[in-house]
Amino acid sequence: MKKFFTTFFIILVCFSCKKNDTVSSDKNGATESSKEFDMYEMSEMALLMEQMYKDNEHLKERIKKGDTIGKFPNHFLKIHAAVMTDEQENDAFFKVQASNFIKAQELIYEDPKNAKEHFNSGIDACVQCHEVKCGGPIPRIKKLYIK
Ligand code: HEC
Repeated sequence: MKKFFTTFFIILVCFSCKKNDTVSSDKNGATESSKEFDMYEMSEMALLMEQMYKDNEHLKERIKKGDTIGKFPNHFLKIHAAVMTDEQENDAFFKVQASNFIKAQELIYEDPKNAKEHFNSGIDACVQCHEVKCGGPIPRIKKLYIK
């Protein structure tokens, strides 16, 4: 039974990641609706993700124009500890992907000559984690690639 709720909850979380999805209407029981209430509040992780999205949009423009790219945004490191909608998502896979992502992003600033390649491998890391964790935003994330 616990497993069932966990599965159901994960499905709900994935819906919460999909901006265009209408929230499923089959609420059954008080436990589920109280969980669902949380869905309307964005988690610390979801807010960080939105911030990272914006930061990467700006970074992409600067790389394309050949502008200076400044410093690694330290708030990205919050990805390791930010509170998620479902803490069970912070598993071994998440941790590996999170460090891959941070490594790729740090390389942009350490080796700005190859900023474009490092930027795109950072986006690869966003997508790879999302393929497993939260498919909804993938089409949006893919728009960040520098062609
Ligand atoms: C290590 C895994 C991982 C990486 C890397 C990652 N994400 Fe996420 N992302 C998640 C998880 C998990 C959530 C769901 C967070 C929650 O609901 O608490 C999420 C949520 C999101 C959301 C939806 C937030 C909302 O409005 O609910 C967006 C947009 C997003 N990520 C974009 C990105 C972008 C852009 C990158 C790369 C710059 C990225 N993500 C990198 C795991 C990851």
